Amino acid sequence: MAAAGSAVGLGNIWGFPTQTASNGGAAFLVAYLILAFCLAYPALMAELTIGRHGQANAVTSLRAISNTKSQKQFAFIVGFGGIICAGLILSFYAIVAGWMISATLEPIATLAGNQPITSWLSEQSLSRNLIFTTGFIILTVAIISRGVENGIEKWSKRLMPALLSILFALIIYVMMQDGAMTGLKAYLVPDFSSILNPELLVNALGQAFFSLSLGTSVMIIYGSYISKKENLVSLGAYVTLIDVFIAFVAGLLIIPAMYVAQAQGVEIFSSQGELLSEDTLVFQVLPALFDGMGTIGLFVGFAFFALMSIAALTSSISMLEAPVSYAVERFTLDRIKATWLIGAIITIVSSTIVIYFDTLFGFVITLTTKFGQPLLGLMCCLFVGWIWYRNSLLEEIKQGCPGVANSVFWKIWPWYIKFICPLAIALVFINSIFG
Ligand code: TRP
Repeated sequence: MAAAGSAVGLGNIWGFPTQTASNGGAAFLVAYLILAFCLAYPALMAELTIGRHGQANAVTSLRAISNTKSQKQFAFIVGFGGIICAGLILSFYAIVAGWMISATLEPIATLAGNQPITSWLSEQSLSRNLIFTTGFIILTVAIISRGVENGIEKWSKRLMPALLSILFALIIYVMMQDGAMTGLKAYLVPDFSSILNPELLVNALGQAFFSLSLGTSVMIIYGSYISKKENLVSLGAYVTLIDVFIAFVAGLLIIPAMYVAQAQGVEIFSSQGELLSEDTLVFQVLPALFDGMGTIGLFVGFAFFALMSIAALTSSISMLEAPVSYAVERFTLDRIKATWLIGAIITIVSSTIVIYFDTLFGFVITLTTKFGQPLLGLMCCLFVGWIWYRNSLLEEIKQGCPGVANSVFWKIWPWYIKFICPLAIALVFINSIFG
């Protein structure tokens, strides 16, 4: 559940619908589903297995399966690269999570009738973004400095059903509004001619890796916390299914809601049919929806954004855990000190992104999610496929899943991860650079 909590976050409800809307709707959905199950799930299995075998942070775990000196150096590059990538992801994630927190507080200010605070909370400004971004990082630090095991699982278990119920209730409401059917059609009826578009594919792959928290050593660490009694194969499958399902359901809400908002006069698309403001899309579309509900909308808006903030928190703690567990295990630092120190560095990077938002925000997202994550994920596949001895790999997966040697999984996955995954990921890239 903690791994699912890491996977389910802003990527599902902010990232996925935004990407779908700006990459041609249903065609993106189809590409995303295929890539999530065929490339991201096998890669997730690779990371979880590496972690459970190594019982330590990413660098140490990858070194444990390396045999030669150069392989150990490669292990360091992949593990440490992942840690940097996780830190950079947290720096932009905290900004979006900060927007979620201010959207949570806004209905309270409205109810209290405090107009200046309401508009400060609802409008983009340097002061608001700096305060909430920093606040969110402090919350993450406070949880992580106490150790991961306490509480995350409890939060995740409550979060998922609550999130799904509110999503479904909102979907029913949206479907009754004008314009929803056009949105539903855009989301579910694909135009197959654009599905091989190189840009669409690279975006879908990046989104799938982001949503499953791959390539950043996070799932290696979570793997190291999984008991040897658990069945890794089905556990990985559950995490993938829950994650993809929640993203799909979020799309069912947001895409039709965009068209409803447009029917109500909110400007969503430019005259050329392009999205006007991608990053803040959900913060325009959803409040417009809640406004239309009258006073009840204030409560619904509060509940929705509060749940989103919690979902962001169960994800951000997994990102911060990556550098912290490395620092604690490698330099035998005190956990609390290490967490505050790394939190401070991330706050500085995050604030820089807030200040130079137009130049840095999109750049850091592209760098980490479209390049860093898939390429580091590819390298984890290479580790499992080419470096790890197959017998030792089988022994690891057998624990908690004794019959795996004769299963379909074991017949397909090892060669799949050796050849198909690295090739397919590489192809998507080459295609996007030269396509
Ligand atoms: N998967 C999370 C989401 O969808 C984000 C996330 C959590 C993440 N941990 C990560 C992304 C590590 C990359 C790396 O919101």
